[in-house]
Amino acid sequence: MKKLIFLITSICLSSINLVRADEGMWLPQLINALNIKDMKKNGLKLTAEQIYSVNKSSLKDAIVQFAGGCTAEIISDQGLILTNHHCGYSAIAYHSSVEKDYLTNGYWAMNKNEELYTPNITATIIQRIEDVTDKVLKGITSNTSEVKKDSIIKANSKWIEKEAIKGTHYEAFIRPFFYGNEYYLFVVENFKDVRMVGAPPSSIGKFGGDTDNWMWPRHTGDFSVFRIYANKNNEPAEYSPDNVPYKPKHVIPISLKGYKKGDFTMVYGFPGRTQEYLSSYAVDMIMNESDPLKVSLREKRLSIMNEDMLKSDAVRIAYASRYASVANYHKKWLGEMTGLKKYDALTKKQLFEKQFLEAVNADVVKKEKYGDIFNQLEKIYKEYKVLSKQVDYYSECLMAIDALYYSRFYMTLFAELKKKQKGQSHNFDATLADYKKLIFFKNYHKPTDLKLCEAMLNEYIKGVPSNNRPYVLDSFIVAHKNDVKKMTEFLYSNTSFADKDKAEAMLNDFEKFSNLYERDPVYYITSAIVKYYSVSVFPQLQYNEREINELQKLYIQGQQEVFKDKKFYPDANSTLRITYGKVNNYIPKDGVEYNYYTTLDGIIEKYIPKDEEFDLPQKLIDLYNKKDYGQYANKDGKIPVAFTASNHTTGGNSGSPVFNGNGELIGTNFDRNWEGTMSDIMYNPNLCRNITLDVRYTLFIIDKFAGAGYLLNEMKLIK
Ligand code: ARG
Ligand code: GLU
Repeated sequence: MKKLIFLITSICLSSINLVRADEGMWLPQLINALNIKDMKKNGLKLTAEQIYSVNKSSLKDAIVQFAGGCTAEIISDQGLILTNHHCGYSAIAYHSSVEKDYLTNGYWAMNKNEELYTPNITATIIQRIEDVTDKVLKGITSNTSEVKKDSIIKANSKWIEKEAIKGTHYEAFIRPFFYGNEYYLFVVENFKDVRMVGAPPSSIGKFGGDTDNWMWPRHTGDFSVFRIYANKNNEPAEYSPDNVPYKPKHVIPISLKGYKKGDFTMVYGFPGRTQEYLSSYAVDMIMNESDPLKVSLREKRLSIMNEDMLKSDAVRIAYASRYASVANYHKKWLGEMTGLKKYDALTKKQLFEKQFLEAVNADVVKKEKYGDIFNQLEKIYKEYKVLSKQVDYYSECLMAIDALYYSRFYMTLFAELKKKQKGQSHNFDATLADYKKLIFFKNYHKPTDLKLCEAMLNEYIKGVPSNNRPYVLDSFIVAHKNDVKKMTEFLYSNTSFADKDKAEAMLNDFEKFSNLYERDPVYYITSAIVKYYSVSVFPQLQYNEREINELQKLYIQGQQEVFKDKKFYPDANSTLRITYGKVNNYIPKDGVEYNYYTTLDGIIEKYIPKDEEFDLPQKLIDLYNKKDYGQYANKDGKIPVAFTASNHTTGGNSGSPVFNGNGELIGTNFDRNWEGTMSDIMYNPNLCRNITLDVRYTLFIIDKFAGAGYLLNEMKLIK
């Protein structure tokens, strides 16, 4: 009988735990050991070395981390890179004004002189990745205290990073994997002169807007084109007119041949953050508390911004980029919590934990090591939940008010100034110079921010009990007879932190007037809030997070011991990863089956003249009417626009190249489907799909629509 029970549980365990087909974000230097057989079986024609190699040129040399948060790919031997429209959005907005509205009309450089340098956009290319776990943990024993551990890890890492780049122009950083069970070193080249080459109008690049965002079927032409510039030695350099186009080690060929359902696909890029190994206590908090709170706060914020953006073009342009990013995660969290609830993620996690415990308890050594994990997590999450809620209010409510958010930067500046005045070592001059570059107020509209301030303060007071609020803020409110509207008006008419001119003047003469600004009411409130959080919230929160991290670290170790046949992949952490799957459709609900690709015909079907999100440029309609499709049409005679596949992706994978089995580009990743947004926490192979822009649509727009076909001469097209 015992044997039978054991057999049954182990069957259940393995069926739950073997990585499901298509799930996983793999480290490229490990695919040779872990995945290559499976990839070949599924249609990959390349060797592991053609995908990742340190000494020979490989695909990895053409994968770019774009502006820190997105991915791009190199598609010409002159450093031309392709990414999403939404990844280039802040750059497009930066170059736009009411007179030169590139957001609305698009922009295309017709030669290299017209390419626009964009400050703050970087392009990072990985040189090599190295397992440095042993070196990072050197000197730590079972007796080392937690605090000591941290400082050893920090010191070791610093030294390893320094050694790794000695005598080179490279940069290096180390990241923990599996909650600190492993450490990897990344040596990178970081290019700082990146220029905007072109972007379609938003009616193409953002077609469908927030209504279609995170949804399938999709028709967004979500791409933009940039170019990396280097110095004469082909090395990264600050912007200079003397810089020249970067010569890459690998150029990605572009396939015009298309794909069909079931074809192998591979996405190579920089996924930002996933949390696949969380406990049921964490999932409970996310789906039942944190996601719902953040969604409701963002709803309020979006409606206020939207109201003002509709009234004025200047406000629309100023807030466009921010609105899009606030709206994006608002919808993501909504999809995530809906999915987690609908597919009963909590019960699934609980079941898994029960089975894990059963396996652990059957072995004395394992029981001793792993048997108490969930009891401890349960206890910690009870405290952590309360703090986490306060932090959600901090970032989604208080710091959503620009005047407060900006004045927080000035707090740092004052602190440095004080050190300087006392003759201590300080960073005042460097910080001041940095802030002068930050252009805080380029996208600011005081009346909108004032409305936001009033609304957000009201939310804060409503949602956070007074014993969890800074006393100074409350007394300020009481001093205004509990009239938040009056108080907000007072703040905004008596502050220097809500006006571009005043704030800039302040930076120019900072040392002279600093005392004055410290008495500014907005500054006064912000410092009260920041002080409160740094004394009463953040330290305890970090303490809890540390405890959780240690337990998660143990939990993964335990899983690796219990489920020996399972291949584990580390959670995304903005490092280079490979994920592979197949071109595939899905069934969103009973009785409905979606096709795996969309076409220009569908764009015309969705067209709503003059609509904010579904309007179209006349030229695209003309091309459609004339069927002027050139070499870009599919076998069905239509222009393909987007397709779905089962690659496990997340935020940060935007702009990632999607390859066929030959390592040729078939599209640019830009989104996920609504039913699959929960995949950051729990992956479901039947429902989770990544959404890719078909590269033939990209080229069709560049060539036929924008008349920038000259760029195609730089590319390697496979016909
Ligand atoms: N959902 C995609 C991503 O997470 C695209 C977002 C940009 N589009 C938008 N309508 N806000 O980044
Ligand atoms: N649009 C996302 C990004 O900016 C990709 C979609 C996702 O989260 O998978 O990275």
